[in-house]
Amino acid sequence: MPCMVIVGAQWGDEGKGKIVHLLSQYADFVCRFQGGNNAGHTVVFDGNVYVLHLIPSGILQTYKKCIIGNGVVVDPEALITELKFLKSKNIKTTNRLFISDLSHVTLPYHRLLDSLGEDDLGKQKIGTTKRGIGPTYSDKVARRGIRMADFLDKDTFYELLKTNLERNNEVLAKVYKQEKLSLAAVYRQYLAIARVIRPYVTDTTVLVNKALDEKKNILIESAQGTMLDLDFGTYPYVTSSNPIAGGACIGLGIAPQKINKVLGICKAYTTRVGEGPFPTELLDAQGEYLRKKGGEYGATTGRPRRCGWFDALVVRHAARVNGFTALALTKLDVLDGLDKIKICTGYRYKGKLLTEFPHNRSVLANARPVYREVPGWKESTTRLKNYSELPVNAKRYMKELEKLVGVKIAILSLGKDKYETIVLDHNITKFS
Ligand code: GDP
Ligand code: IMO
Ligand code: MG
Repeated sequence: MPCMVIVGAQWGDEGKGKIVHLLSQYADFVCRFQGGNNAGHTVVFDGNVYVLHLIPSGILQTYKKCIIGNGVVVDPEALITELKFLKSKNIKTTNRLFISDLSHVTLPYHRLLDSLGEDDLGKQKIGTTKRGIGPTYSDKVARRGIRMADFLDKDTFYELLKTNLERNNEVLAKVYKQEKLSLAAVYRQYLAIARVIRPYVTDTTVLVNKALDEKKNILIESAQGTMLDLDFGTYPYVTSSNPIAGGACIGLGIAPQKINKVLGICKAYTTRVGEGPFPTELLDAQGEYLRKKGGEYGATTGRPRRCGWFDALVVRHAARVNGFTALALTKLDVLDGLDKIKICTGYRYKGKLLTEFPHNRSVLANARPVYREVPGWKESTTRLKNYSELPVNAKRYMKELEKLVGVKIAILSLGKDKYETIVLDHNITKFS
């Protein structure tokens, strides 16, 4: 049962898409288990840039099968846009993409409520992607969501849509002073969409468990990151699902003992898009430098990402709650040319030194990072092919991070392109 989960160790956008694409050449199945089209996973190869939101990045490897698991929230309109995009690139999805009949469907009122709710929060907004993710998961937990199996059954869908629209139209009109949505118009539009999606929908728990029994290689692609996890992230400034490795069991319907490896993806520095605490954020020219050099603009919303130094407390917390068996360190090349680099090794709060990530919001808001300063390197690392060629201070930086996090780096990413990567531990290409 060779099965590996790939998880973001920070606040998302760590480069999961690139690493999943790289490792998916060794996989039979690539699966998403949570989130929705709030994700933006970038893959660059052969001079082309692909950004995937809902469909696993493994779809870009011609013969791999991909699963959108039950834990994902699927916006059918966004899915169709992505299917069209893949078709325009001559990438086939028929008999390769399978969507769980248990996944929940995001509908126009979810997107509207997400957007209006954010505007209403004003300064306290979460900074969501406004894709309707929170409202769709809220409906799921409140037991009034619409699952894919019911979405595809036109009579059941009509009844569920009617009930949901009646309630949500009241909220839209009374709370937000907005126009009501037309049941007939939404129903008509989504019936047409359902016809396109139907061939992809199946019981994916049968598929994935059969593949595990047959010892096929399964690669599981998390979206977002540990610090955006509903339980383990910087609540309430989080997403509405569990991107951590344990979420894969629930979001795909596989047993915990089937997971062999958990690869944590972390940037050589830190970024965050959206609101919420970020202790190592750099609000000065240094932060702007990282944003420019690292091209730190959201792959889904285009928003500038907030940038800061590497925070060892964050990644150590992630290593703990995910059980990372190895790390992939990305974007080390962005640090090329710096005289000094800082690593956060603790927080100072009311004169005390904290060495683990605090959960109390007021402590977190007032905690000040304690840095260890290490020397940088002048050479460009992007084209390097072997670890031995790396500047000595780059190697020292990596060793320092490994020591602070307590996990070894198996993959080093030094550029956007698939080939700008050094695999340090070839065992990572085996999933068992
Ligand atoms: P994901 O959401 O974790 O898949 O990450 P995103 O795709 O949202 O953001 C990562 C960005 O960094 C993308 O633009 C990637 O093309 C780029 N990227 C990934 N790895 C590297 C790297 O090692 N170096 C550089 N310079 N860019 C990288
Ligand atoms: P990938 O998979 C970075 C952030 C949003 C916001 C919070 C809640 O590309 O790493 P939501 O729309 O999910 O309700 O927004 O989560 N967020 C992400 N940040 N990368 C992502 O995905 C994200 N998906 C959601 O910016 O702060
Ligand atoms: Mg992203």
